[in-house]
Amino acid sequence: MRILLTGGAGFIGSHTAVEIVQSGHDVVIFDNFSNSDASVLERLERILGRPVTFEEGDIRDYSRMREVLQKHNIDAVVHFAGLKAVGESVEKPLEYYDNNITGTLTLLRAMRDLGIKRLIFSSSATVYGTPQYLPLDENHPLSVTNPYGRTKLQVEEILSDLCVSDPEWSVVCLRYFNPIGAHESGLIGENPRGIPNNLLPYVARVAAGILPAVQVFGNDYDTPDGTGVRDYIHVVDLAKGHVNAAEYCSCHKGWIAINLGTGVGYSVLDIIHAYEKACGKPVPYKIVARRPGDVASNWANPQRALELLGWKAQYNLQDMCEHSWNFQKNCPVE
Ligand code: NAD
Ligand code: UFG
Repeated sequence: MRILLTGGAGFIGSHTAVEIVQSGHDVVIFDNFSNSDASVLERLERILGRPVTFEEGDIRDYSRMREVLQKHNIDAVVHFAGLKAVGESVEKPLEYYDNNITGTLTLLRAMRDLGIKRLIFSSSATVYGTPQYLPLDENHPLSVTNPYGRTKLQVEEILSDLCVSDPEWSVVCLRYFNPIGAHESGLIGENPRGIPNNLLPYVARVAAGILPAVQVFGNDYDTPDGTGVRDYIHVVDLAKGHVNAAEYCSCHKGWIAINLGTGVGYSVLDIIHAYEKACGKPVPYKIVARRPGDVASNWANPQRALELLGWKAQYNLQDMCEHSWNFQKNCPVE
């Protein structure tokens, strides 16, 4: 298959590019570098030992989108491109709706007009809202509390409507839990701009001495050690799930949502201690107030991914922290 990755220069997209090429498919990366930079392409080429096809562009640009899809004779699209910071989405809802909703609609129009009807969409466990039960399966009620989450849920619904309107479409919405870690080579990983919002890149920068201490957002949750529990998944396992999803799309039609998680929850303190082991030194932290909007615990039931995609996460928490540290050491931030 020839697979276009919108947002393919980003954290999850770059790891997915590696796994797709290594499973024998062709990849075209499409990105506007709003949250990534061109150096990732050279690093991908070092991992893969071959050139990577790249097209610069914005998913909101219909004619560019159409041109690229046509030029490369694309069979399927994995749609990562979008904005992803929950806090920023509250401050800038219009930017989020424009990028994530208008961008997706423009991509879908270009695909439809060219008869390309296979899509894998980067959704999120955020669509489950506050868990009513755990583990979270795909039938858990959906609800969202911020514009970012709303864009994910709305795109899922748009895709479902599209599949009802035209049974030729094949759409898999992958609901990611918490992707962390990095490629084993240490060449690609997560390198957010500015102060990280998410736990792992923050811990990595504390371990590297760039930030002084991790702020642990609350230790009075109803969890074994009082800190928040999440289903952290190695980004390479997540990337492999996309290969299985693309292959699934080529022989199934219709819309489906599938969780990508491990089924195991770890606390903030579990993460800090695993990272200390990985980097061989203490990671200073302090307990601070809860972060508004956080839930106590959140982990996946990954059974559907196993049944439909034959996919199961392989890496453990220690691997995730070691690979993150390996990347952090190789790729110091500004
Ligand atoms: P990322 O920011 O590293 O990657 C997104 C890429 O999309 C970037 O390279 C960015 O430059 C590009 N992009 C953004 N807007 C674009 C546009 N209009 N046109 C073209 N390119 C554009 O983020 P990521 O962590 O790799 O996440 C990828 C997807 O997965 C996103 O849709 C995100 O919402 C979703 N997701 C991420 C997480 C997570 O924790 N990382 C969790 C759940 C879902
Ligand atoms: N945390 C801290 N200190 C930090 C950052 C986070 O203690 O500096 C804690 C949080 O309170 C939470 C855990 O670490 O308990 C994980 O927080 P993250 O910000 O890394 O991840 P979230 O689970 O809050 O959010 C992630 C993605 C969202 C997505 C959501 C879906 O960032 O985009 O998963 O489950 F919507």
